[in-house]
Amino acid sequence: MPETIGVLTTGGDSPGINAALRGLGKAATGDFKMKVIGFLDGFTGMVNGMSLELESGNFSGILTTGGTILGTNRDRPDKVVIDGKPQDCTQIIIDTYRKHKLDALVCLGGSDAQDSAFYLMNQGLNVITLPVTIDNDIPNTDTTVGYSTAIEVAAEAIDRLHSTAISHHRIIIVEMMGTETGWLTLAAGIAGGADVILIPEIPYKIQKVSQAIFDRSKLGKRFSLVAVSEGAISEENVHFFERARSANQRLRNGKDEAEVNARLAEIERRSAGDTIHLANRLEQFTNLETRITILGYLQRGGTPSATDRVLATQLGTACAAFIHESHYGVMVAVHSDGIKAIPLDQVAGKVKTVPLDHAWIQGARLVGVSLGD
Ligand code: F6P
Repeated sequence: MPETIGVLTTGGDSPGINAALRGLGKAATGDFKMKVIGFLDGFTGMVNGMSLELESGNFSGILTTGGTILGTNRDRPDKVVIDGKPQDCTQIIIDTYRKHKLDALVCLGGSDAQDSAFYLMNQGLNVITLPVTIDNDIPNTDTTVGYSTAIEVAAEAIDRLHSTAISHHRIIIVEMMGTETGWLTLAAGIAGGADVILIPEIPYKIQKVSQAIFDRSKLGKRFSLVAVSEGAISEENVHFFERARSANQRLRNGKDEAEVNARLAEIERRSAGDTIHLANRLEQFTNLETRITILGYLQRGGTPSATDRVLATQLGTACAAFIHESHYGVMVAVHSDGIKAIPLDQVAGKVKTVPLDHAWIQGARLVGVSLGD
């Protein structure tokens, strides 16, 4: 019967992490009579010995608290930043796991957490994860802790920006988080009644966006709200980088081709979220003043929504129950027919993107939203 578990939060924080820790901790220390060791600041805490025993009292009063009481960072077991340099601390982490006589290690977070847990599973540790990220980009779970709250925050922002866009006859671009997927922008854009929604999954044509806004103004609607993911990219940029990569292949034939491609990928990643460039071009093409609001970390902060509190409690308590049954190597997921334990090899290294035939995409188009294509 498992007696001692370790828990850490890793990767980007998200509203509801503490609610999930509370569900896990109260169930583990309560009915399942387990000892819970919390490691601070993700895997770094397993390297520098920053840990503490968490008792039932530690999980009280945190249901509505934003962020994570354990702290977090983006370190991975084989890339822990020490004195500014990433170092492979896999063996130190395994030694810490053994020293504390852990029966299991629980990792809460987004894709970082899933990938790191899968890596440690392959090193022989008992691991189990919870899908906690505002991006909702984790496969094999219907949703993730934090997604609902981030939608509320972003939709309210769009509601507020509508009044100033109408008053000034302006285009207002609202940039949301989501580098590889557009789940957050799509949901918040629909909820906020955005006129244009641009997501990474659909490279946009600037002419199409401009025409949609121009058509609106011809109907007397001299304002538009544009919801854009930080990872949205124009079709011309996609083609530009494709040409650059094929030129690189012709010129180098293998010699440092990979290095130049890596640099191109980094430039492409940075230029994808070029919202300022988008604003300038829309203003130029439509002759409407254009302004930008970047929501950024507002979407990750503050108290979780009631929906996220319920989801977090459900997943956290289910995680403790799975551990009680010695069910490891899985992510605790929510499906329409209940809580499931999904093997980590079906989660790690994968990203859940928005399917182009998703009902929300169809619905957005039918209410007249331009998706830039
Ligand atoms: O993974 C969640 C997320 O909020 C992304 O949407 C965003 O691009 C990223 O984290 C920001 O990362 P960081 O907090 O390391 O700046």
